Amino acid sequence: MPVRRSSIRWEMVEIELRGAQFREAKHAMSSWLPCRGCGLSDFPLGGSPWSPRHRAMVPMVDLGNLPLANRLLSVTSTSNAPYPLVVYYCHNCALIQLADLVPRTEMFTDYVYLTSASKTMMEHFDRYAEGITRRLDLTAKDRVLDVGSNDGTLLKAFQRRGARVLGIEPARNVASIAEAAGVPTLTNYFDLKLAKRLEKVRLVTANNILSHVGSLRDFLATVAHVLRPNGLFVFELPWVADVLRNNSFDMIYHEHLSYFGLKPLTRALREEGLFLVDLEYYPSIHGGTFRGFASPSFEEPSHLVKEMSAREEKEADFWALRDFSERVPKLAHHLRDMLLSLKKEGKRIAGYGAPAKATILLNYCGIGRDILDYASDTTPLKQGKLIPGVKIPVVSPELARTKPPDYYLLLAWNFRQEILAKEREFLDKGGRFVVPFPQPEFVDS
Ligand code: TMP
Repeated sequence: MPVRRSSIRWEMVEIELRGAQFREAKHAMSSWLPCRGCGLSDFPLGGSPWSPRHRAMVPMVDLGNLPLANRLLSVTSTSNAPYPLVVYYCHNCALIQLADLVPRTEMFTDYVYLTSASKTMMEHFDRYAEGITRRLDLTAKDRVLDVGSNDGTLLKAFQRRGARVLGIEPARNVASIAEAAGVPTLTNYFDLKLAKRLEKVRLVTANNILSHVGSLRDFLATVAHVLRPNGLFVFELPWVADVLRNNSFDMIYHEHLSYFGLKPLTRALREEGLFLVDLEYYPSIHGGTFRGFASPSFEEPSHLVKEMSAREEKEADFWALRDFSERVPKLAHHLRDMLLSLKKEGKRIAGYGAPAKATILLNYCGIGRDILDYASDTTPLKQGKLIPGVKIPVVSPELARTKPPDYYLLLAWNFRQEILAKEREFLDKGGRFVVPFPQPEFVDS
């Protein structure tokens, strides 16, 4: 992939790479990593091609070896092999990312995450379908293609408004939930081979999917292929600036290969013939989510695209990531100490929710069964299983109510509002929550 020299801030590269060398030494990378966004692996500065000084990608955050976040264990299964979890920064395009180490079949064949697990997301996706139907003036002639369609929550909302829909979902178990609900769904990964068999569509949606995609550029090229000239690609992603600001390192897990800022994303889209023309921003969805609108034809980007891109220059650059990497271990110690003090006082603590994030938070912080009795989660697919690594049992909220703790560690912190409203009675009876981010704090009635 060609790289324009003008896009590289050479002096910065020199300084920044020096700072990162000690980390580099810790991670003898087995291969020379190309960036998932821009494709660059090394800067053409000359000298030894193996010198870390010339690499575009530098390791910045090392969370150690952690189990796959969504792979809950059955009570009899003990297989939860940990994989290294190291975040890299690309000095060329600023994309924050993991190196692809885990085969995707290990992560996406049988999936336990259901979009419909929260009222917040159901309502969010309903408003999403409403907004886009109006924006594009969708009619029954138009077809909506949702990539990573999960249990079909979004497509059902489009169906209710009269659109024809098709879901693409590689996880067989969740695809069959969508099918059973009347949402036509192909159990496939989205690639050019598949796209060539599909009719061109007016709208492609992909929510919280681009982060999971290994071949990002191929994926975007496939979207561009399947869109009609007047079509639109609409996608949602957690904004990396929010992840860094909120210290929410538990958003980092093996499934999430990229942590998007607008700058690297705009560039990758453009190089595949798509233009980021507009944005919407949802501060309370997954801790801060943007909805991007990308068109195959050029338009001047909206004010919000420019404003958020400008904020990223400070909030999601190399230095912001470096500061984040220094705050994370401190926060983890602090959280564990808080919980241990409660245990010393004889308090009972349980987890609230068993999201994928919890695997990372609990294992990284060393919060095991000596601290948490169980984690309560509404998803039947998760109940009766164990959070990998720490082996904390996941129970139904009904079961949890028979043995309520004194404190809930809010593992599904992204649904804080919904959960605190739902647990009024627990709070009124003197129960308290420990909210881990942006800094661990207690919440009571
Ligand atoms: P997520 O953060 O990956 O979206 O997952 C949230 C998890 O929290 C999901 O497994 C459902 C669970 N949950 C509850 O158990 N109770 C609740 O009230 C809500 C909103 C979510």
